[in-house]
Amino acid sequence: AQAQPKPDYRPLYHFTPPQNWINDPNGLVYYEGEYHLFYQHNPFANQWGHMSWGHAVSPDLLHWQHLPVAIPEFTHTDGQTKTAIFSGSSVIDAGNRNGLCPTGTKDCMVALYTGHVTKGDEHLAQYQNLAYSADKGRTWTQYAKNPVVDLGLKEFRDPNVFWYAPQQKWIMTTVKPLEHRALFYASKDLKNWELLSDFGAVGDTSKIWECPALMPVPVQDETGRVTGDQEWVLFISAGHPQKDFIGMQYFVGTFDGTRFILDPANPKPIAPATGNVVDWGKDYYAAIQYNNLPASQPGPVMIGWLNNWAYAGDLPTTPFKGAMSLPRQIALKRTPAGLQLLQQPIAATAKLRGDKRTRQAIRLTNQIIPFESATDNAYELEVTIAPGTAKKVGLKLARSANEATAIYYADGKLQLDRRQSGNVTFNKRFASVEEAPLTPKNGLITLRIFVDKSIVEVYANDGERVITDYIFPTETTGGIDLFAEGGSAEIRQITRWSSKPTQQ
Ligand code: FRU
Repeated sequence: AQAQPKPDYRPLYHFTPPQNWINDPNGLVYYEGEYHLFYQHNPFANQWGHMSWGHAVSPDLLHWQHLPVAIPEFTHTDGQTKTAIFSGSSVIDAGNRNGLCPTGTKDCMVALYTGHVTKGDEHLAQYQNLAYSADKGRTWTQYAKNPVVDLGLKEFRDPNVFWYAPQQKWIMTTVKPLEHRALFYASKDLKNWELLSDFGAVGDTSKIWECPALMPVPVQDETGRVTGDQEWVLFISAGHPQKDFIGMQYFVGTFDGTRFILDPANPKPIAPATGNVVDWGKDYYAAIQYNNLPASQPGPVMIGWLNNWAYAGDLPTTPFKGAMSLPRQIALKRTPAGLQLLQQPIAATAKLRGDKRTRQAIRLTNQIIPFESATDNAYELEVTIAPGTAKKVGLKLARSANEATAIYYADGKLQLDRRQSGNVTFNKRFASVEEAPLTPKNGLITLRIFVDKSIVEVYANDGERVITDYIFPTETTGGIDLFAEGGSAEIRQITRWSSKPTQQ
């Protein structure tokens, strides 16, 4: 085995592959006690290439069991043309109604993915293929009549499929990345697809559009109570508040089984130049929703790839590159500015809480004080802050003699400064300060922060704002400091739970 470089950046409770490269989550589906996580994977190297669907299963979306590659890249009969397995979805065809799986199969797991076709160095096509599995996603057969959707394009990808119960049909959303368009298709049998409509060229079109995800989302009233209403949200991976990077944006509207119609007032863009931002950090992308969730798990639940194509290949981690976010349950909340996306780690995430340490009513006036001197950089924090008169108030995490990651509130914004977080030189675009607009509620800001070796996920004000970023501290342990600058503030309450590892 390869010696582990120190510190080991492998997270303790975020999903990572045993080895080699991963990008987008694919085919998220629940079936008979197992949450499936397929993912873009290079089985042969710690860099992008030979894209295949890697595979893991979990009983709770937190503890993962690694399985062999599910759908490998394949070579055509000419011995030269290759189809790489790009991003897509999985669904359960209950009762094998469409007869894709062998006769007698109870339920058929069906994957719709983008076939990325090349011959040598030449990129020939992208179209939507189907594969099916009669053994809970362990082994897959390519459909003999592939592709199922083909426009003769080189850039046409990322089918996102779900069951639309009101009209008893499957809906597939795909993108024409260069045209910033999402295309909606319908099918009764998963094999024959009819184009319904398209949507696009709105919001942020400064980057190619990838990985669409369309779903109905429950609406909460202004106090956070569930109303029973729902609105449709279309997520698109493209755009970022900082123009040189990519992230995700979302659109709220209606979907009637044929057309997605943007509701121009919901929400009013909070960042007009960039549309509606899903995650204000640099490292959340290509998130899609789970299909077929059990009644015990309220949805929608989404998982995203933690990385940014701006520097994805350079992350200083071996023998793997890339990780998945915590599973996030999403909702919409009515606000004076329209419907606001809320993201929270699923409730079961609390199972990861170990030892607890808590303090209350810490007053800070132009000072920095230690909350804990050394941790293993793998924990959850809950912090309630009354910003008072301070210009800046917050925390310094993963702090050692010369390094810290600062998370603070200043000037109506939540910020994360990773410029001194550790190794930031592996790519010149990595050192950065992230910021998200944030309004205190009754004079308070609440933060839920997940630190996991090289990953930081910050959920502010019940998930109204999220910042997700990598950090690479060069020390294996790090302290937690509290600070206020330019006035006085109060940390009403701070609690830290050590995190129980879900993988070693
Ligand atoms: C998004 C993406 C998808 C594509 C896949 C290829 O990160 O570019 O559009 O299907 O990755 O690995």
